[in-house]
Amino acid sequence: MMSAASTAIAMPTRLLLLCRSCSCPCPPLSLSSCGAGAGASASAGGRAFRFRWSGASASRGLLVSSSSSSSFRDVDVDVDVSRGGKGNISCCSSRSRSTRQIKKKRSAAASAAESAALAKAKRRTRSGRDFSEELLSPYLSGAGGDHIPVMLGEVLEVFRSRHLLSFVDCTVGAAGHSSAIIRDHSELQLYIGLDVDPVAHEKAQSQIYSILNNDLCNAPSNLKTHTLLKNFKYIKSALREVDGNLLESGVDGILLDLGLSSMQVDNVERGFSVLNNGPLDMRMNTQASLKAEDIVNSWPEAEVGRILRDYGEESNWRSLQTKIVKARLDGGLHSTGELVQLVKSTSGKSGRQGWIKTATRVFQALRIAVNDELKTLEDALYACFDCLSSGGRLAVISFHSLEDRIVKQTFLDIISRGGRDEEKLSDSGEEESWSKQRIGGRDGTILTKRPITPSEGEERLNRRCRSAKLRVIQKV
Ligand SMILES: C[S@@+](CC[C@H](N)C(=O)[O-])C[C@H]1O[C@@H](n2cnc3c(N)ncnc32)[C@H](O)[C@@H]1O
Repeated sequence: MMSAASTAIAMPTRLLLLCRSCSCPCPPLSLSSCGAGAGASASAGGRAFRFRWSGASASRGLLVSSSSSSSFRDVDVDVDVSRGGKGNISCCSSRSRSTRQIKKKRSAAASAAESAALAKAKRRTRSGRDFSEELLSPYLSGAGGDHIPVMLGEVLEVFRSRHLLSFVDCTVGAAGHSSAIIRDHSELQLYIGLDVDPVAHEKAQSQIYSILNNDLCNAPSNLKTHTLLKNFKYIKSALREVDGNLLESGVDGILLDLGLSSMQVDNVERGFSVLNNGPLDMRMNTQASLKAEDIVNSWPEAEVGRILRDYGEESNWRSLQTKIVKARLDGGLHSTGELVQLVKSTSGKSGRQGWIKTATRVFQALRIAVNDELKTLEDALYACFDCLSSGGRLAVISFHSLEDRIVKQTFLDIISRGGRDEEKLSDSGEEESWSKQRIGGRDGTILTKRPITPSEGEERLNRRCRSAKLRVIQKV
């Protein structure tokens, strides 16, 4: 009910109400009708508001609160009639206040995300290469041409200035990078491809065979190729197996393209996919004995927690650890679908994005543990560097921060061995524009002080590449 005091104040038929104290973007309100006894109505930003007088003070103005109707926003308006009808929305109702706080928090979060993105951009060098299937097609046609390997143009650029007589692809997969390297280096005399996955190894073998036999015009004629089913941490024994002298002379180029191939992710039977139900397997080497289900169903609880925390970087690891171990009472977890259900039940209200992110971290943790990926990588990087010839290059593409950290630290350790007596930071490489900053040491030079990341064009075409980072070291 309107009070007598409020109706006694002469109100103009049109009031301009401007946002006063809050930082929220309240649009100006135009109060178009305020007949005595009736609720005043106003519109702003396409939304309707209605007010009724709830109190008045002749000198300071009226306190006007919105109608209780749920279709109207609950906003209090402080009108200073002494200023000729100009007033301010003070947004002082509790709902408006909380909306304002949410908006403030959102804008703080947005600016934090912006600064984080800026800091991230500073820590890397985005590739400036043009990216198109057309540009890369000369390297892809025929064998290996059905998929575009991650950062192919950048990898080719890294090795292009080298006289590449020998090359080892430690992660041959579908032989995409390998095929392109073979085509790009007619001088190549020895190629070795390694993969720990028997399926990938078989596919790689037939791709390389296809290049040599169906595509001889582009392939080097005196090239010897070897594809071995082997873990790359045994690169030294692989070289020995191929040629007893190779370890001494070294090889001119080595590539590690870490992570999973599409062949592995897309095959539900391998158990790598968060979105498709399959057995809890996750072995890269299908002949190995340890599977993901062994970890979730029989490893000590503290170990399960440790891998979720350290390998998955999952903040909710304690609760997941407890649930995983509890599930053993009901027969344990045996499929990726069961594990995903458990993650969903732990993620609560965080929605699809929330549980997918958590599940991805849990899967990453299990995969790293099943394949002992981090220790293998560290050992392999030292071994690979030892296998390089003088001037030879080792290029590594990693896909998550744990891997990238190991590559970065190991490269730094390698060039620090025996003291970094010749440490220098040079500006962009004189002859190679992709190498922006280098760090020199006695035994080697890091050619990528900051990792190179995929070009925007590649990211648009291939979402799976967006976390890729390329680092390169060269032996002195
Ligand atoms: C991302 S794929 C490589 C794709 C390849 N560069 C191409 O262009 O087709 C990674 C490959 O590395 C293999 N791999 C992973 N860990 C390995 C290891 N420790 N030793 C050897 N191969 C490994 C996987 O089996 C997989 O086939």
